[in-house]
Amino acid sequence: MLYLLPLALFASALSASSDALSTKMTKNLKVLVSSNDFPESGLEVLKEHFTVLQSRYLHFGEEGVRENKEELLNLIPGCSALLWSSHHPISKELLDKAGPQLKIVSTASAGYNHANVPELKARGIKLSNTPNVLSSAVAEIAVALILGAARRFTENLEQVKSGQWDIGFTKTLGQDIRGSTVGIIGLGGIGQATVKRLSGFEVGKFLYTGHREKPEAKALNAEFTSLDNLLNQSDFVVLAVPLTDETNRMINSTTLGKMKKNAILINVGRGDLVDQDALYDALKNKQIYAAGLDVTTPEPLPKDNKLLTLPNLFVLPHIGSATVRTRSDMAVLAAENIVNALTGKPLLTPVLP
Ligand SMILES: *[C@@H]1O[C@H](CO)[C@@H](O)[C@H](O)[C@H]1NC(C)=O
Ligand SMILES: *[C@@H]1O[C@H](CO)[C@@H](O)[C@H](O)[C@H]1NC(C)=O
Repeated sequence: MLYLLPLALFASALSASSDALSTKMTKNLKVLVSSNDFPESGLEVLKEHFTVLQSRYLHFGEEGVRENKEELLNLIPGCSALLWSSHHPISKELLDKAGPQLKIVSTASAGYNHANVPELKARGIKLSNTPNVLSSAVAEIAVALILGAARRFTENLEQVKSGQWDIGFTKTLGQDIRGSTVGIIGLGGIGQATVKRLSGFEVGKFLYTGHREKPEAKALNAEFTSLDNLLNQSDFVVLAVPLTDETNRMINSTTLGKMKKNAILINVGRGDLVDQDALYDALKNKQIYAAGLDVTTPEPLPKDNKLLTLPNLFVLPHIGSATVRTRSDMAVLAAENIVNALTGKPLLTPVLP
């Protein structure tokens, strides 16, 4: 057996030197990071292998996106990879400017409705996202929204700010999670993580709907049903589906009309899953009890938007995955997808492999 040792040493030396060689060979490849705020952990992974270009501007907010646009168009020619760290559409113009060596777009998000999938596919460009690593953080926000909407945080925080507390045995009463029926639209990673987190709240029944039954549902005690049944039985309706042509405005005047009068709508997916005018009417007329949204259309939601006049709406500024650890995990995964794409390895989390 001893003779194997030198062979093993030789093999490991060879693989170390081939790693060094491949790093040397990839160093001239350029990778563009779309925003000036991106976790260091992700940048480090990229810098180890590639030449990293990074926008000097923030890729968020109206001004940031405008300043960024020119900058990205100037930086992208010759880049082999694009790391996208926001939810803004990736324009055809940007892809045109890139040139044929662009191999991958890696978006640091679970949703990828901002990436034009048919366009990328037609150009032979790979696409990756960052699912799973953000499920628990987003599920925590789903629970926060459930509590915030059910216990009337918007009104209650207003009372604290104004000093006019409306305290009384029957004043500003909310709703219990205990004993309720919770309906999850989209029992993927985020939907499942939400059920797990809520299971300590003595929920009466979990329902879910989607294209097909999920094998994971059994262990979660979640029952598969139609959208119509879920809507008319649930006390909490949680939207955790990706935005697609099919799910666009799936919560509209018709579907809101099927919900219970005490129902609470939660959205941790994308703003366009909900017809906001119809939601405004349903909340204003108390056709449903309340809503909690982490996502809106547009983002930011202008402060004079009529939704923000509703006491029974609890809104957060799209912070689902916004924790130190989760954003770092997303950044590293997004970076590793680029490393794999440019070194001939399979993507870790492919959308277009
Ligand atoms: C809910 O909707 C389904 C499908 O339309 C219907 O069969 C069922 O009777 C409804 N249940 C309730 C409680 O309204
Ligand atoms: C409302 O959403 C349902 C379910 O997604 C859909 O079938 C229906 O066409 C939509 N209705 C309107 C008025 O958009």
